[in-house]
Amino acid sequence: MNTEYIKIDFETESGAQGLRRAADCIRAGGLVVFPTETVYGLGADGTNADAATKIYEAKGRPSDNPLIIHIADPEDAALYAQTGELYKKLAESFMPGPLTVVMPAKETVPMKTRGGLSTVAVRCPAHPVANLLIRLSGVCIAAPSANLSGKPSPTDARQVAEDMTGRVDMILDDGSADFGLESTIVKIEEDNTLTLLRPGKITPEQLSAATGISLSISDAVTDKLKEGALAPSPGMKYRHYAPAAPMTLLDGERVRCIEYIEKNGSPPIGIIAYDEDVEHFRAAFPDAKIYAFGKREDELTQAHELFKILRLADKEDLCEIFAPLPRKSGIGLALYNRMIRAASHHIVHL
Ligand code: TXA
Ligand code: MG
Repeated sequence: MNTEYIKIDFETESGAQGLRRAADCIRAGGLVVFPTETVYGLGADGTNADAATKIYEAKGRPSDNPLIIHIADPEDAALYAQTGELYKKLAESFMPGPLTVVMPAKETVPMKTRGGLSTVAVRCPAHPVANLLIRLSGVCIAAPSANLSGKPSPTDARQVAEDMTGRVDMILDDGSADFGLESTIVKIEEDNTLTLLRPGKITPEQLSAATGISLSISDAVTDKLKEGALAPSPGMKYRHYAPAAPMTLLDGERVRCIEYIEKNGSPPIGIIAYDEDVEHFRAAFPDAKIYAFGKREDELTQAHELFKILRLADKEDLCEIFAPLPRKSGIGLALYNRMIRAASHHIVHL
């Protein structure tokens, strides 16, 4: 398949035209990669079962792992899902934005798109290109992250091109994604309670404050899924984000981390380090590949950098990667969730 690559520029007629052609492609059952405020998405007509099949094939993704459908207006959720008061509250507080809500599905969403489940995940992205593409298409757009299955989600169009050239019809390039980790996913349960299935930029604290409902956090967000346990979200059971070299998360002071790596690290090693620690690690391990992660307290920068760093690390021939263990609150929880999976839950408390 020939992949067309379009730099989006609203100022020029060719940029605007590109977006119109991308919408035509979606309507015709094609695959278009587009930017969102979280990560890039691999989109197709969410109401077309054949288009969903193409998405699974392009990603190499198991077809029981359902797709999120993307809408241009929060009210459009009612076309595809049984919405209620709680959805309305969530939509008023956080949409458009990086929140996905799981609700009972309507028949308008083919089984193929929702991976055979009775529920559907709905998200209204804030990114202007994503929003306009959905509007011009006139349908909802089913879109997983635009990576090959098992790789970190792409946060810029160059990473998309690495994975998707030859597999999709079009790639819309609008530079670097704003947040860098995928949306928060929350499920509205039958008894009108909320379960957090995937942490993201919208934090559990914000969700509780906006709805007045205490939110339960699925165990699989912070812990390993138990052998034989049913995954509350199918994506939880698949290997994800794991770099080629094994990764260890270190929980402790910098000096203890350096001691630990000196004793246990088998070179060549990579170290993901807070900006404040970079020079110290460089001095201790002159041959290591050091990746600056952002300042210790600056979780927004860390979220922005994480997937980019994991992809860079994969280009080196490393034996091991060490990284700091994030905290489990606020946006830290989203980092924690992605990093324990990248590290296959290998944490060392020092
Ligand atoms: O930020 C995002 O959400 C990005 C952008 C492109 O919007 N999309 C994204 O999609 O991350 P994906 O497919 O990579 O991750 C969606 C996750 C999967 O783990 C899937 O199992 C889960 O959402 N999911 C989808 N539908 C679900 C449902 N009905 N019930 C439970 N989990 C669901
Ligand atoms: Mg994904």
